[in-house]
Amino acid sequence: MATKAKSSAEVSGGFTGKIGYVMAAAASAVGLGNIWRFPYLCAKYGGGIFLLVYLILVATFGYTLLVSETMIGRMSKKSPIGAYKDLTARRSHSTGSKVFAGVGGWVNALVPFLICPYYCVIGGWITKYFIEYCRNSVKVMANDDYFGGFIGKTAQPEIYFIVFLVLTLAIILLGVQKGVERFSKMMMPALIVLAIVVSIYSCTRPGASVGLKYLFVPNFHEFSMMTVASALGQLFYSLSIAMGIMITYGSYTDDSMDVDQSVGQIEIFDTLIAILAGLMIIPAIFAFSGGDPKVLQSGPSLMFVTLPKVFNSMGLGMAAGIVFFLLVLFAALTSAISLAETCVATLQDELHWSRLKSTLIFAIYAAVIGTCCVFGYSIWSDFTIGGFQILDFLDFITNSIMMPFGAFFTCILVFHFVTVKKMDEEIELASKFKRKKIYNFNVKYLCPIGLAIIFASSVLNAFGIISM
Ligand code: TRP
Repeated sequence: MATKAKSSAEVSGGFTGKIGYVMAAAASAVGLGNIWRFPYLCAKYGGGIFLLVYLILVATFGYTLLVSETMIGRMSKKSPIGAYKDLTARRSHSTGSKVFAGVGGWVNALVPFLICPYYCVIGGWITKYFIEYCRNSVKVMANDDYFGGFIGKTAQPEIYFIVFLVLTLAIILLGVQKGVERFSKMMMPALIVLAIVVSIYSCTRPGASVGLKYLFVPNFHEFSMMTVASALGQLFYSLSIAMGIMITYGSYTDDSMDVDQSVGQIEIFDTLIAILAGLMIIPAIFAFSGGDPKVLQSGPSLMFVTLPKVFNSMGLGMAAGIVFFLLVLFAALTSAISLAETCVATLQDELHWSRLKSTLIFAIYAAVIGTCCVFGYSIWSDFTIGGFQILDFLDFITNSIMMPFGAFFTCILVFHFVTVKKMDEEIELASKFKRKKIYNFNVKYLCPIGLAIIFASSVLNAFGIISM
């Protein structure tokens, strides 16, 4: 979901206060990451142990980086590339600092370019499911092979992808974003209510309790470095950190906002929605597929395989399917809009292209990359990069490699260039900084060291040098 408050910020020059920032950040945070991505990673990497690692990371890395990015934006009043340049230049003009600022700013700014195309491919899958539910294909879709059959085709997923992409870019060009975003804000509560109904239904099916146990009771034998790396990637993705968005939002806030408290609220909200999605999907795997390890490992397709079974067994399955996929479609659309908007704005600012030119060139670029992702599941399915299909590869390289790298730069920017002392003072302008000691320790030691380890192991793993 994206940014109503961002649009109002454009009008008024800033958020009107804490609520504006929290709403915009929470809206950007909640999206396919919570509903589609979290459940499949959780199922794949051991259930309870993944959840536990995830929660620990949210409270440490997530908290530290959200505070840092928001403050980088607030202090510089600029978007990522400018913010990096500005804050490093306050301290040093050496060539090293300039290179640091360039790399840090650009890594952050490039992530949305890689995420947006494949986000639209998944948006296309959701569009397809919505349309099929409208055509009352409830029974057919509950079939095990339905989803695989669909993405294994070439033309159909491509058409749905293009439809979703065109819709996203048309909204940007026509400037009707605000309308769409306001509308989807209203749909958000509906999505939560429906998700609660579906999760209660899932959790009360016979056999679902094993799934609940799988989700909530950590099994330490399932722990591996991969659990940490994927939980961290998910954290970045889900909270929209390490991609410049929160720096931009921070730049719209003023010095009177209580950052400490706002960040806490965003984390709690985002995490609760992810757990809710887990409750909807994971017990259902056990109730409907007997906890089949193949289903647990199925990755990006999980939601599309499991939920249709739930809807098929429920009364009113067609209505539930239509409403659910419509709501998710809106959540995905607003996120795609704000991802695409970020990319278009970067092209406009850095290359000085007009808005129309930036949008058109971005459209061609996204169509090409997205098409590669679509073909990666059909005619190019033999082609893998380091064992990943194309879509999974883009997902992996952004979440497990570029984002830890970008976040590492953010920590260095804070403790070396801005200095922790200055940061603390700035945060304390508005309120007491309750978690000051924890923040200072995290940003100086825990986060940079942890990020370096995770980054290194992801790279080594991708090249097959170690296996995690
Ligand atoms: N956090 C969003 C989600 O959970 C996805 C996302 C990543 C996003 N980056 C974004 C959304 C930037 C809006 C803007 O689905």
